[in-house]
Amino acid sequence: MASNKQLLIISHTPSTNTRAMAAQLFSGAKNAQENQVTIRQLSPMDCNTADILHADALILLTTENLGYMAGATKDLFDRIYYDVLEAKQGLPYALVVRAGIDGTGCTRAVESICSGLGWRRAQERRLCQGDWQDHFKQDCFDLGQLMAASLALGII
Ligand SMILES: Cc1cc2nc3c(=O)[nH]c(=O)nc-3n(C[C@H](O)[C@H](O)[C@H](O)COP(=O)(O)O)c2cc1C
Repeated sequence: MASNKQLLIISHTPSTNTRAMAAQLFSGAKNAQENQVTIRQLSPMDCNTADILHADALILLTTENLGYMAGATKDLFDRIYYDVLEAKQGLPYALVVRAGIDGTGCTRAVESICSGLGWRRAQERRLCQGDWQDHFKQDCFDLGQLMAASLALGII
């Protein structure tokens, strides 16, 4: 039976590799509970306050650029922060960072903002760091599946 729960995947994908990761997040989520959770996927640039307000859980995929989260991801937070602050306390989220070298600054910054928003980290962060590894795709598939299943079961 369909439920009205929605998992929103917000993915910044400036490269072939990050597009593959985003696709796997979506596929994993679909694979878990296709009929029980609505899965949406947006670029942060196309995401707005209403999208966050309608979401029951989020997966954030961003790159690290210049020691911080990608500008597109930061711009999303800048636009929605105060509009969702009160309504989305406790919103469960999962974070995936693709960082060619490091990832520390990006991870710290995203988690700090999410903490300020009162969002709840539902899964350990996935830091896909260094040279490209094919298992990053499986990691993303698994995370998508886990988040969708957890949402369907009401455990996040
Ligand atoms: C302008 C620019 C700045 C970057 N800065 C960082 C950085 O500070 N830390 C890091 O780990 N990777 C950095 N990278 C690498 C990106 O994180 C990486 O290219 C991106 O995640 C895409 O991954 P891919 O190369 O596997 O497609 C940077 C890339 C660009 C284009």
